[in-house]
Amino acid sequence: MNGDGAIDPWSSEGDTDYSRIVSKFGLQKVDISQLPNPGMLHRRGIVFAHRDMDVAVRCINEGTPLGVLTGLMPSGGMHLGHSMVIEQVKWFQEQGADVTVAVADLEALATRGISLSKGRKTAIEEYILNYAALGLDPSKSSVYFQSARPEVQRLGFKLGRRTNLSEFEAIYGFTGETNLAHVQAPMVQVGDIVHPQLEEFGGLRPIVVPVGIDQDPHLRLTRDIIGKTHWFNINPRKSGGLIISLSIQDDNSNIFGVGKGGKINRDIRANIFDRVTRIISLLGFADLISNPKHGTLEIPGATNSDKFPIRIRLLELERELGGLGLMAPCSTYHRFAPGMTGGKMSSSKPETTIFMNDTFDSMSKKVKRAVSGGKSTIEEHRRLGGDCGKDVPFQYLEFFFEQNDSAIIEIKREYESGRMLAGDMKQLCIEKAADWLSEISEKREIWRDRLDEFLAPDSN
Ligand code: TRP
Repeated sequence: MNGDGAIDPWSSEGDTDYSRIVSKFGLQKVDISQLPNPGMLHRRGIVFAHRDMDVAVRCINEGTPLGVLTGLMPSGGMHLGHSMVIEQVKWFQEQGADVTVAVADLEALATRGISLSKGRKTAIEEYILNYAALGLDPSKSSVYFQSARPEVQRLGFKLGRRTNLSEFEAIYGFTGETNLAHVQAPMVQVGDIVHPQLEEFGGLRPIVVPVGIDQDPHLRLTRDIIGKTHWFNINPRKSGGLIISLSIQDDNSNIFGVGKGGKINRDIRANIFDRVTRIISLLGFADLISNPKHGTLEIPGATNSDKFPIRIRLLELERELGGLGLMAPCSTYHRFAPGMTGGKMSSSKPETTIFMNDTFDSMSKKVKRAVSGGKSTIEEHRRLGGDCGKDVPFQYLEFFFEQNDSAIIEIKREYESGRMLAGDMKQLCIEKAADWLSEISEKREIWRDRLDEFLAPDSN
């Protein structure tokens, strides 16, 4: 967190003023009544905000293609914090989405000096193994390495033309002192996020990226860049409806009939407008106001929910005409579970979280020492009750270990009434965590020799 309110994806300081973040960065709040089969993290308000989640939900409801993309930093061990993202990826997969997993080995090399071979080993033996154990389905998942997928890097380079250092300064708070690794890594991540839409990786479709709020700068950057590549802009029309306008750029000015000195070739322009008009008519809009000379087409009868089908059709056209035809990513954001010692969870501070392969002893020791919401004496606790908002063991049950909603409500009631003591809460958390960890450990043994099934063909 920088002083000016930017979020720094490389900092280990947490900023948990969620409502400020939602309004500052224009996120939308998750409305679970709109979700098909909301998962545990949705029902509990842990996945709290999004950008364009409604687009992803629409694909789920209509059974049209949807991709989900996540990325992992191959450093350190996998812990509870990481498992939350996989929970969400799994949810999208269960709703029919295809899954792409980026191993950020170039980012790890650039920002942390981790060799590609070390990164590869950590990614497979630590992260992918646990993803498998958590229930990701290999037949609908594809893991790749940034270093082994030239298309991702090429996109990163190509899209670099659409941004500059001032934008990086504004988004990430960079200064003249900033290491260039932190300039390179986000551009590769932009490539990660959009490349599944390339023909060879599944083609044009929305891609949803579930992340912690710390990764939002990358999504803002990606959305901004992709917006600039569009050949057709779609905006609300002042007097109602939507308006499509051509976005004339170096690479499309001939195609859009802009000649030397800005003179418009009427025939070429009319032909483009015929094609756009046909597309919009096929979507069921009869009343159109076309102004080829100004490059605009007004659709008075369109509403905001028509934006997505119009966008998809126009991106198809953009591709036919030779453009990139990429959609801005959708994203969802989850709250962070607190670290066990009160601050943020961190791989480099093992006492702050539980690792997927922690032993029972190590886990239970950490839970016993975790920050509690209990009162300082039993007498006082019985009288005033415990504070679930402060109690790490309670929150770990809520975030991870207790799947049953009514059990959570019951535990909360017991604790806040003072009937349940802090020690009881810790004991319950230890029992549930032990079940959770041992199930994952058993599943790891089933998958250990089958991890190839997750790897994309270009990852060998
Ligand atoms: N930057 C992410 C991290 O630090 C890793 C990552 C790379 C990623 N590419 C991604 C995450 C794409 C989400 C989507 O953990």
